[in-house]
Amino acid sequence: MSENRPPQSPLTLQAMLFGHALTQVLVSLHQSGIPAQLAQQPQDTETLARNTGLEVSALQQFLLVTEQAGFIQQDATQHYRLTDTGQCLLPDHATTMIPLLEHAALSYPAWARLTHSLRTGKAAFPEAYGADIYDYFATHPADNEAFRRYMAHTTQAWLAPAVSCYPFSGHVIDLGGSQGDFSALLLQHYPELRSTVFDLPETVASASEVLAAAGVTERSHIQAGSFFEPTQIPTDGTHYLFSRVLLNWSDDQVVQILRNCRQAMPASSKLVILDCVQIPQADLAAEMGNLNLLVMFGAKVRTQSLFEDLIQQAGFNTPQWIPASKVMDKLPLYYLEARL
Ligand SMILES: C[S@@+](CC[C@H](N)C(=O)[O-])C[C@H]1O[C@@H](n2cnc3c(N)ncnc32)[C@H](O)[C@@H]1O
Repeated sequence: MSENRPPQSPLTLQAMLFGHALTQVLVSLHQSGIPAQLAQQPQDTETLARNTGLEVSALQQFLLVTEQAGFIQQDATQHYRLTDTGQCLLPDHATTMIPLLEHAALSYPAWARLTHSLRTGKAAFPEAYGADIYDYFATHPADNEAFRRYMAHTTQAWLAPAVSCYPFSGHVIDLGGSQGDFSALLLQHYPELRSTVFDLPETVASASEVLAAAGVTERSHIQAGSFFEPTQIPTDGTHYLFSRVLLNWSDDQVVQILRNCRQAMPASSKLVILDCVQIPQADLAAEMGNLNLLVMFGAKVRTQSLFEDLIQQAGFNTPQWIPASKVMDKLPLYYLEARL
């Protein structure tokens, strides 16, 4: 049980109520190209309106908000420039927030249908976009590419410290491996390792560039397919890895995916899952991340005992847990290793 917290002030409640508007301010700041313009040179409102094609009076209103929110500041000559925080909206900044911002833009219409998820226990994404997220990506390449950028960004931020926490060897089948960012890190860290990046055709298409940029092409293989089709899953792996994949699926679907994987796995191979594990009393950011899984995928962060239950339903032995890194310094990531 949570301890009794002091009541929020009306002003804090008001800020919460208009959180969605602030999200859209950031998304529009990015989409309008203002940060790139101001990075070139400070500009007054009229010049900025001309260079971005925005309506000058609307831009004036908008800039007052973005200034108060701390992204830009005006100098004595009425020219705007980016603040240090605003620099995070540039693509090549060391701590760029653009991949997260793009994901916020995608998830935003789905969050507007949160009540649907609460009533049905299912994802709200199809209510907003007319299809489940991965079916939607198949016909919307720009959004799929933005999601891959989000995965690449969070792989570096959250998964890189986890690379050395499990002793990978042999041939890893990286199921749902996106464009190969995590495989690339594994292959760089373990010089004898081989990897097959397995994902949907539209996602795996860019993997060769990522693996080549990491200098690991010779030890990597790319295979397009679906883990809902057992015959498409490679049969020559020693480790069958699901990194941040099962948290996109319902309990029934997870059991199905794991059964499909089991059919393809050689008898001596291992199942390896890398995923967040639910902890009691996580903070607001972690709980929002968990709720985001409901909204986008109809899924959730699981407890260790639920994972063990699902794995056993799929026919695997009791797993071993190996602690890895933490997401945003809070939510624990674990490797779970199980045998047939
Ligand atoms: C949340 S991402 C995780 C990506 C990567 N493993 C990581 O940790 O960064 C889930 C991945 O599962 C892939 N995926 C979704 N449905 C799939 C399917 N039916 N078969 C194979 N991969 C699938 C998606 O394309 C996506 O790349």
